[in-house]
Amino acid sequence: MERRKLIENPYRPGAGHLPPFLAGRLDEQRFFKRMLHQQPVTENVLITGLRGVGKTVLLRHMRHMAEHNDWLWVGNDLSESAALTEERLALRILTDLAAAIAKKLSEPMTEGAEPTSSLKHRLDRMQQTEGDALAYDALKAQYEQAPGLPSDRLKAVLTRVTSFVQKARLGGIVLAYDEAQCLSDRADHNEFPMSMLIESVAAMQRGEGFSPCLLILSGLPHVFDALTATRTYTERMFRVMTLDRLSREDTWAALTTPLAALMPPLHASDSLLNKVCELTGGYPYLIQFFGSELVEQLLENGGTLATDQFPSPSTLDRLDAGLFAARWNRTSDRQREFLSLIASRQNARSADFSAGDILEQPGASAEFGGPVANQMLLALAERGLIYRTRHGRYAFTVPMSELMIQRRMSREQDVEASWQSPPPQMARKAEPPAKPKKKRWFS
Ligand SMILES: Nc1ncnc2c1ncn2[C@@H]1O[C@H](COP(=O)(O)OP(=O)(O)OP(=O)(O)O)[C@@H](O)[C@H]1O
Ligand SMILES: [Mg+2]
Repeated sequence: MERRKLIENPYRPGAGHLPPFLAGRLDEQRFFKRMLHQQPVTENVLITGLRGVGKTVLLRHMRHMAEHNDWLWVGNDLSESAALTEERLALRILTDLAAAIAKKLSEPMTEGAEPTSSLKHRLDRMQQTEGDALAYDALKAQYEQAPGLPSDRLKAVLTRVTSFVQKARLGGIVLAYDEAQCLSDRADHNEFPMSMLIESVAAMQRGEGFSPCLLILSGLPHVFDALTATRTYTERMFRVMTLDRLSREDTWAALTTPLAALMPPLHASDSLLNKVCELTGGYPYLIQFFGSELVEQLLENGGTLATDQFPSPSTLDRLDAGLFAARWNRTSDRQREFLSLIASRQNARSADFSAGDILEQPGASAEFGGPVANQMLLALAERGLIYRTRHGRYAFTVPMSELMIQRRMSREQDVEASWQSPPPQMARKAEPPAKPKKKRWFS
C-alpha cells in the first residue's frame, strides 16, 4: 500500500493524452519543421489513421513546434460538431481566431528571451492599440459586414488577421482542425464546409503579400474521402501523413522507457515485457493501456509478476469496455451477429473486407444474403465501427476490433449458456450429518 502511494503510474491511456515517451513519428516532425520555414507555403497537412494511433498527440506536438517558432496556432476539435454548416464552421473559426490572438497578446515572455525581446514589445503595443479590434465581437462584425458567401466573408476576416500576424512579425498562422471527418460537404443540403475552409486557405496562400497560412486537418481514414470529394483541387494541396502502428523498436521504447525509471522497486522480466509488446501490436493506445495495467498489476503483486499472470481477465474486460464499448453498445443483436461474422472471416489478416467476403462464411448467405449484407455494412459505418476504404471495401476504425468482438461474443454466449443449464440449487446451510439412528431394541 505504501509503495503504491509512492509510485505514480506513468502511462497515459486516453484520448489525446501526451504519452510519457513519444515514440516514432520522426519523419512527420521533420517534415513539419521544414514547413514552418517554407516560404511561400505551398502545402498543407492531412493526418489520418485509425482510432488511437496518435493523431491528436502528433497534432499537439506540432502545436508546440509551431508556437516555439512564433506561429499563431488556431485550432479545435470538431468531434462535437456533427453536421457542420458553412456558417457554423465560419463562426467556429472566428471564435478560435479571437481566442488564439488574445492568448498570444497576453502571453508572458518566452523563457530565455532577451529582456528587450522585440516580439514581446510589439505584442504589448498591439494589445493596447488593436486588442479590441481583434476580439471576437470585432471579428464577427467584420464577418457580417463583408459581402458575398461565407467563404468570401471568412477570407475578409483571415486577411485582417494575417495583417496582424505580419505587423507582429509572427511566423504565420496554422489553422488546425481535429476530427475533421465531421467537415464533410453535404451536397444534398447544399452545405460545403470543407470546400469553404479549403478555398479560404487556398486564397490566402495564393495571395501576394500575406503572411504564411497553413491548414492542418486530422481525422479518421475517411477524412481523405471527405477531402477528395470537395469542389476544390485538394489532392495536390495536402501532404498526407497516414499514421500506422509503431515499429517493434519504437513500441519497445514507448513501453520500456517510462518503466525503466520504476525498476527497481518494480521488476519486469524481458519475457514479460516482450509479451506486453506483442499484446499492443504496436498500437499507441494499447501501449499506454497495457503499460498502465502492467504497472497496476506489478504493484498489486508486490513488484514482480510471472509472464503468464499477465494480462489478468479484468484487464481484458477493461480494454473492451474502454476502447470499444461505446460503439458496440449502439449496435443491435443482428448487427452483433454480423460483426461476429466479420471478425471470424476466413482472411482476417487482411485489414479490409467486402460483403462478398462475409457471405462466403457457412450459413451467412441464408441470414444476410442479397442486399442485406451491404445494408448492414452501411449501418455499421454510420455507427462509426467501420469505414469505407478507398477501394469500396470496409475496415474497422478501432485496431484489433476482431479480437474484441470475439471476446464479447464468447462472453455473451457464456451468459446465454448459463441460462440453458439446469438451475443451480440454492446453497443451503450444510446440514449436520444425520445422527445414526439409535438402534431401538424394542419397538
Ligand atoms: N507516438 C506515441 N508514442 C507513445 N504513445 C502514444 C504515441 N502517440 C499516441 N500515444 C498514446 O496513444 C493514445 C491515443 O492517442 P491519440 O488520442 O492521439 O490517438 P488518436 O489517433 O487521436 O485517436 P482518436 O482517433 O480516437 O481520436 C494516447 O494514450 C497517447 O498517449
Ligand atoms: Mg484524436
